[in-house]
Amino acid sequence: MRIIKVNSVEEMGKKAASLVSSQIILKPNSVVGLATGSTPLGMYKELINLYNKKEIDFNLVKTFNLDEYFGIEKENHQSYYYYMMNNFFKFIDILEENINIPDGSAKDVVEECLRYERSIKQAGGIDIQVLGIGKNGHIGFNEPDVNFEAQTHLVELEESTIQANSIYFKTIEEVPTTAISMGIKTIMNSRRIVLLANGYSKADAIYGTINGKINPNLPASILQLHPDVTLIIDKEAASKL
Ligand code: PGA
Repeated sequence: MRIIKVNSVEEMGKKAASLVSSQIILKPNSVVGLATGSTPLGMYKELINLYNKKEIDFNLVKTFNLDEYFGIEKENHQSYYYYMMNNFFKFIDILEENINIPDGSAKDVVEECLRYERSIKQAGGIDIQVLGIGKNGHIGFNEPDVNFEAQTHLVELEESTIQANSIYFKTIEEVPTTAISMGIKTIMNSRRIVLLANGYSKADAIYGTINGKINPNLPASILQLHPDVTLIIDKEAASKL
């Protein structure tokens, strides 16, 4: 594991964007795994900036998002589809057919999960996967105790995740309790992984990710077994190391 400590959230976004953009420069048709939440917002801003400066383009890039709430339509402003469109995709030249996000309104959720896995395989696998991390150590929406062997599947969100995400909803009752998420196995199959974390609330999870025993109660600890992981963390997230 490579650990890059940064002084600010802004620097975290810039460093993450340079890793993703160098991947795209080296391989213009890269398959890029993307995350949502507050953590990667600076990275998206910087990638848009690099695109505007004509340093990179996304014309041949394919993306796969980690997860989507289940039981939510694309048009819902809380969907991750909406987040991705409005924080990133509408500002760059990515082709619509190259954007992949699990369909949170799928009637047959099992088939949707299988379809998503098939699409990742057909695209040749993920070259670089960007991850945030939950306070409980989740990656994607793989909550503690999820099987390390899981591929894309329907997950039940933990109370702490529902609480954390409720800031984006009017009331906590509106937060979906289930989601479709790439599994740990899907994430581990990515060729490179970049995990971003900032703030004291992530310090325990970061400590466990790097120094903890590998176990499903801290899903991110499995990353210790991946050959190419880079953590970009601020001082607060690194405060327990
Ligand atoms: P956050 O979420 O970026 O909003 O903190 C990260 C996560 O839960 O994976």
